[in-house]
Amino acid sequence: MRAMTTPAPSMPPASTPAAAPAKALSVAPMMDWTDRHDRFFLRLFNPHVRLYTEMVTTGALLHGDVPRFLTFDASEHPLALQLGGSDPTALAQCAQLAEDWGYDEVNLNVGCPSDRVQQNKIGACLMAEPELVAECISAMQAKVKIPVTVKHRIGIDDLDDYDHLARFVETVAATGCHTFIVHARIAILAGLSPKENREIPPLRYDDVYRLKRDFPQLDIHINGGIKTVPDIEEHWRHTDGVMIGREAYHNPWLLAEALPLFGSVNDKTREGVLEDYIAFMAREMAAGVPLTQMTRHILGLFQGLPGARRWRQHISDHAHRRGAGLEVVRQAAAFVRQAQDMRVHPL
Ligand SMILES: Cc1cc2nc3c(=O)[nH]c(=O)nc-3n(C[C@H](O)[C@H](O)[C@H](O)COP(=O)(O)O)c2cc1C
Repeated sequence: MRAMTTPAPSMPPASTPAAAPAKALSVAPMMDWTDRHDRFFLRLFNPHVRLYTEMVTTGALLHGDVPRFLTFDASEHPLALQLGGSDPTALAQCAQLAEDWGYDEVNLNVGCPSDRVQQNKIGACLMAEPELVAECISAMQAKVKIPVTVKHRIGIDDLDDYDHLARFVETVAATGCHTFIVHARIAILAGLSPKENREIPPLRYDDVYRLKRDFPQLDIHINGGIKTVPDIEEHWRHTDGVMIGREAYHNPWLLAEALPLFGSVNDKTREGVLEDYIAFMAREMAAGVPLTQMTRHILGLFQGLPGARRWRQHISDHAHRRGAGLEVVRQAAAFVRQAQDMRVHPL
């Protein structure tokens, strides 16, 4: 039972993958951001990165519109479904759904600090209950063959020392869980907003590097504040993988810049990616998806280039208007071309 709304994009083998890289790169789960439209867009930059869905809670999935949460395009592989919850039975049922729908991995969120999430014992508050997390992971593993992974923080509140982190990982790893994606800062559950919890607690990369040294048999991935290809290379020296969140959303070209890390030539162009995404948007609009639901993800396409501001402005001002169509995006792209021509041939 798979629901693929659209055919795979005509993604030519633009680059020749060399030997499989020993290290991994992924784009983080981000609520409201990494929906299926965004993931389709991000995939156009790089076939190697692993993509994660937004977190879906077990309650929403088991009592809600399953196709709405789980539909994805075949091009999105490799793709992981992130779940939020702490009831082993419900999580096991959701893991089964993930496998049935064709996801490559199911991931448990133990890092999200929002209030709404804490009330239901979901997310970062579970860092205080490693045994419960282990029970959840065991129940999920018993149902599915795809990898069951955990994304977590280095600590919460007063449980902020390395020993607690190591005990958490040791307890969960005892279930056979092999992959840990570690956001390298603690979460402060009372007093900081989710946004502040992504910015204020300092990054402690050394704690994650130490985890890898202490648990060399596990796959330890690092997340938090990683923004450039040299950053990725540096973190790869100490860990098995890098997960990038905000930078991939605000500057998706970074994913194309990372192609050489996988032995691929970066022969992508922003214009080429845009053409493929426009074709996708046309199909989605024909199926009733509003334009703005898709254009909101592409505002960072020209990040750092002349015309980037005009690009964002034009789309933000016009895409929501009644009757707006893809001409809005084409006009915005024309402004970028003009800005670049002006740079080459100043008046
Ligand atoms: C808008 C937004 C939504 C997020 N939603 C989730 C989520 O659903 N699940 C999760 O585990 N983390 C979520 N995060 C946290 C990111 O996955 C990531 O851990 C965090 O942004 C740090 O990585 P970065 O510095 O590369 O952005 C979210 C972050 C942002 C900015």
